[in-house]
Amino acid sequence: MRIAMIGTGYVGLVSGVCFSDFGHDVVCVDKDPDKIAMLERGEVPIYEPGLDDLMAKNVRDGRLSFTGDLKAAVAGADAVFIAVGTPTRRGDGHADLTYVYAAAEEIADALTGYTVVVTKSTVPLGTNRQVKRVIRKTNPDAEFDVASNPEFLREGAAIDDFMRPDRVVVGLHSDRAKDVMDDIYRPLSLRDFPVVYTDLESAEMIKYAANAFLATKITFINEIAALCERTGADVKDVAKGMGMDGRIGDKFLHAGPGYGGSCFPKDTSALARMGQEHAVPMQITETVIKVNDEIKRRMIDKVMDLCDGSVNGKTVAILGVTFKPNTDDMRDAPALTIVPALVGGGAKVRAVDPQGHREAEHLLPGVHWVEDAYKAAHNADVVVILTEWNEFRALDLKRMARKMNTARMADLRNVYSPKDAKRAGFQAYVSIGRKDMRIDKDG
Ligand SMILES: NC(=O)c1ccc[n+]([C@@H]2O[C@H](COP(=O)([O-])OP(=O)(O)OC[C@H]3O[C@@H](n4cnc5c(N)ncnc54)[C@H](O)[C@@H]3O)[C@@H](O)[C@H]2O)c1
Repeated sequence: MRIAMIGTGYVGLVSGVCFSDFGHDVVCVDKDPDKIAMLERGEVPIYEPGLDDLMAKNVRDGRLSFTGDLKAAVAGADAVFIAVGTPTRRGDGHADLTYVYAAAEEIADALTGYTVVVTKSTVPLGTNRQVKRVIRKTNPDAEFDVASNPEFLREGAAIDDFMRPDRVVVGLHSDRAKDVMDDIYRPLSLRDFPVVYTDLESAEMIKYAANAFLATKITFINEIAALCERTGADVKDVAKGMGMDGRIGDKFLHAGPGYGGSCFPKDTSALARMGQEHAVPMQITETVIKVNDEIKRRMIDKVMDLCDGSVNGKTVAILGVTFKPNTDDMRDAPALTIVPALVGGGAKVRAVDPQGHREAEHLLPGVHWVEDAYKAAHNADVVVILTEWNEFRALDLKRMARKMNTARMADLRNVYSPKDAKRAGFQAYVSIGRKDMRIDKDG
C-alpha cells in the first residue's frame, strides 16, 4: 500500500513510521518546514522511546520519506491519513477543526486515482461526513471514500501500542474502502489483533467515549484519595483492592495530581460541548472536568501547607514537569497550573525534567533549570515530585534530605512512602490519599 500521512506530530509520525515498518510505502507530510528539515536529517522532533531507531531503519530500507509537498505525496496514494491537531477551540471548548478541514481541501486538490481519505485525528461526531463534503466540493470529480480510524496510542509507549493494539477501530461506509483498510492493517489482523469495523459516527464516538471513561476513572480515584486523606485510609491499598476486581481492572487507578496531556483535557471538553449542542448534557464528563481542575488546585494547597502556609521566599525543587514520564509533551500538564502558582506565591523554583526542559522553558517563566534532582534539592525548602520519571523513582533520599535546607517532600505521584521519607531523615512528607508524615520540632 502507498500511504500519505498528513501531519508528523506525536500521532502522525509514529503511525507513519509503524506503517512503513509493516512494509507499506509511506510519505509523511508536514507544513512545518523545520520539522521536515529535521526529519530529513534523521532527527526526531519529539521524544518518543524507540522512534529514532525504527524511523532510521525504515528510511534506510527505502519505505519511509518526508516532504513538505502534500500534492506530490497524495498523488497516487492508496490512502491518505489526516493526523493533524484538533486542539480545544478558544471560548467554547469545542474541538478546533480548522486544521482538519484545511488538510481535507489540500488533499482534495491533489487526489489522482481512487483514494481512501482516513481521519486519524480525534474529531467530533459528523466531522468525517463534513470532510467528505469538503473534498467533494473542492474536487467534484475526485474518486474517493472517507474512513474514520481514531488512534489510541499512548505517548511514551506509542510504538508498542501501535504495533500491539488492544484493537483498531475503523468506521466506513464502502466495501472498496474496507478492502484498502484491510490491506493496511493486515499485518495486525494476521497476528489476531482485532480490527473493529463500524460506521463513521460510531468510530468517532468510540474515541471520545474511551477517553472520557479513562479520565473519569482517574478522577474517581483522585477524589477517593482526598477522602482517604481525611479518614486515614491508604489510597494505594484501596486501588489495589479495587483493581483486583476483574470488572474494574487495575489500570488508571493511580492517584495523582490530576490528569493532563494532549488528549484527556481537550477530548473531555469536546465531548461536553457535543452533549450541549445535541441537548444531551454529558453530566458525568462535565463533573469530571470540574473535579480535575479542583484536584490540580488542591496540589498547590498541599505544597503551601507543607511550607507552613506560604512559599514566599522559599526554594522549591520540582522533579518532573511533563504530564507523564517518557514524553516531552507539556500540553495541559498539571505543572502548568501548579508551578506558576508557586512562582506567583513568591517561591524560588528550581526544576529538572529528563526530556521536558526544552518544551517547558518558555511555558514556565521564572523557573531555574538544573540537570539533576540533587542539584534541584540543594538548599531547597521542599521537593515536589510532579512526574514519576524512572530516575526519580530510585532517589537516594538520605543524600537528598542532607542537601536540603529543610527536608520536606510533596510526593504527588506516591513514588515513596511516609516510612521511606522518615527513614531518610525527611522532617515532613505528604503524598496523595495517604497519611502525612510530620516530625515535630522535638522529634
Ligand atoms: N498525542 C497523542 O497521544 C494522541 C493520541 C491519540 C490521538 N491523538 C489525536 O491525534 C491528532 C494529532 O495529535 P498530535 O498530538 O499528533 O498533534 P501534533 O500537534 O503533535 O501534530 C500535528 C502536526 O500536524 C501538522 N499539520 C497541521 N496541518 C497540516 C497540514 N495541512 N498539512 C501538513 N501538516 C499539517 C502540524 O504542523 C503538526 O506537526 C489529534 O486529533 C489528537 O487528538 C493524539
